[in-house]
Amino acid sequence: MRRYLVAGNWKMNLGPAAGRELAAGVSDRLRGRVLRGDVLVCPPYVTIPAVAAVADGNPVLLGAQNCGDQDSGAFTGEVGPSMLKEAGAQYVIIAHSERRQYQREDDELFVRKINLVHACGLKAIFCYGELLGERKAGRERDVVRAQLEGVLPKLQYADPYNTVLAYEPVWAIGTGETATPEQAQEMHAWSREVVARLLGDGPAGNMRILYGGSCKASNARELFGQKDVDGGLIGGASLKVDDFVGIVEGAEAALG
Ligand code: 13P
Repeated sequence: MRRYLVAGNWKMNLGPAAGRELAAGVSDRLRGRVLRGDVLVCPPYVTIPAVAAVADGNPVLLGAQNCGDQDSGAFTGEVGPSMLKEAGAQYVIIAHSERRQYQREDDELFVRKINLVHACGLKAIFCYGELLGERKAGRERDVVRAQLEGVLPKLQYADPYNTVLAYEPVWAIGTGETATPEQAQEMHAWSREVVARLLGDGPAGNMRILYGGSCKASNARELFGQKDVDGGLIGGASLKVDDFVGIVEGAEAALG
């Protein structure tokens, strides 16, 4: 039985003061509740220490949105995973479509980053998903397979407990257009099939696969109720206490 994960990707929003306020609001609403899954927030780097003071894993966990591919040294502007760990992060998002698009990050870099994240004792959330044109051309399965094949077999330490997958169809990110529960289930089942081929049935059965793309409180329950959807990676709707807590409630409701 896989535990759900509801993860907020704050993207380039909320400095330390506003971030701390949001995290404290979410923590206050969830504290003392026995959740059947995990809740995570991923603020910008500079906001992590402020959020660490209030998101202490009870029950809100803390993560980062990116990291360098080296842990320390002469790499101006980079941040190593050990530093993130020291600051309180347990997860690092890698390969978000915005980094693929704007920073031109590629599979080789993702492999280096995830191996380092794991070596430092952190968990990786690996994002992938097709573009609108690729779906229109009926190529979504091939694209997703190639994205998984390009990275998963090269990971030295990946297991279902230190690695989470996040299927994020790019056409659904920030557009208000959500994949239907059927579309999400189809792509998640396909992803799991590919993972089984690459890593084996055991890891594939236990690895969590999140859905990301215009997920909100009103659609979370139905999306997360799909057999192979184990929670969500949430952008816009993770920036307000009510919206984000509503999604956690959707995840709980999806379990019946
Ligand atoms: P939205 O929820 O704003 O569509 O963003 C999804 C996303 O990119 C999460 O990583």
